[in-house]
Amino acid sequence: MIKAGIIGGSGYTGGELIRLLLNHPEVEIDFVYSTTKAGTKISSAHQDLLGQTDLRFSSTVNERIDVLFLCLGHGNSSKFLKEYTFANQTKIIDLSNDFRLRADATFDGKTFVYGLPELFKSKIEQTQCIANPGCFATAIQLALLPLAKAELLANEVHINAITGSTGAGIKPSETSHFSWRNNNVSWYKPFTHQHLGEIGESLSSFGHATGKLRFLPNRGNFTRGILATAYTKFDGSLEDAIKLYRSFYSEALFTQISEEPIHLKQVVNTNNCHIHLHKDDDVLLVTSAIDNLLKGASGQAVQNMNLMFGFEEAKGLQLKAGVF
Ligand SMILES: NC(=O)c1ccc[n+]([C@@H]2O[C@H](COP(=O)([O-])OP(=O)(O)OC[C@H]3O[C@@H](n4cnc5c(N)ncnc54)[C@H](OP(=O)(O)O)[C@@H]3O)[C@@H](O)[C@H]2O)c1
Repeated sequence: MIKAGIIGGSGYTGGELIRLLLNHPEVEIDFVYSTTKAGTKISSAHQDLLGQTDLRFSSTVNERIDVLFLCLGHGNSSKFLKEYTFANQTKIIDLSNDFRLRADATFDGKTFVYGLPELFKSKIEQTQCIANPGCFATAIQLALLPLAKAELLANEVHINAITGSTGAGIKPSETSHFSWRNNNVSWYKPFTHQHLGEIGESLSSFGHATGKLRFLPNRGNFTRGILATAYTKFDGSLEDAIKLYRSFYSEALFTQISEEPIHLKQVVNTNNCHIHLHKDDDVLLVTSAIDNLLKGASGQAVQNMNLMFGFEEAKGLQLKAGVF
């Protein structure tokens, strides 16, 4: 058994990690650090865990753990790592965007590898530190990577994606307040969302020029999941596109190509990304769906942990979709 520590334990991604790690056969949760709930039972914040754990939130850390998960907002992971030191062998998986871009990937002598297993599996297997991808970034990259690799992404790409309210974290804001969010849909940060940087770096990692990405993020009135659509010029047939995607993802355990049009509920509560392809005239429409808290955050973090420690990639991640 390896020992894990979680920082930011009372938040949404922290809660999902606790749920996953409590059921992971190779992991024991050593501590769950919290700035606001130290001393209280984890099951009093994450009430579904009643009867599953007697652990309490902690105000201290154990520097000798095997793996540390940072589930903090932007800027707080680097601040935390400046304040606390961990043993050399401690592997770090950060869920924020502090270390995702190449320019930010080296910190305090450590180099963070971008943790998208469909793209960087062998690097992930060998690294000590992971920058876990963003949720929109995961859905959009998985929708576009096969085209980027095949040098078929030279034209402008139009992307529209809608996310559930858990994407905004546990602290209520004006636009995640029930009265505003319920029965409502709206866009935000048109064409400027912060995930465009990491998406661009991954798509260009094959060495081919890519067209401009026009990304419009939307807020949905549901709690979890991301449905993303992207379309661009594509001269081949639908069969060509399906072959390309099937080949790119032939070894991916969690990314599947669906012949049927897809919807959110088939992936929510799982670590899967489902992708559907549709061709009209010279345009290819790619739809992808993930759970923002699992494949978009804590599930992918556990997938990365499995790869880093040499466990089976899907260990602890055989989950069941909500469906109805
Ligand atoms: N939500 C998603 O769908 C999603 C998806 C992918 C990536 N992410 C990224 O994952 C990170 C965590 O997201 P989240 O949704 O879990 O956020 P969250 O629900 O707001 O949780 C963050 C937790 O961090 C702790 N915290 C807050 N301020 C802090 C500070 N100044 N210093 C130390 N700890 C502090 C708090 O926990 P305590 O009170 O217990 O200390 C808080 O509950 C973010 O960087 C986010 O961008 C989120």
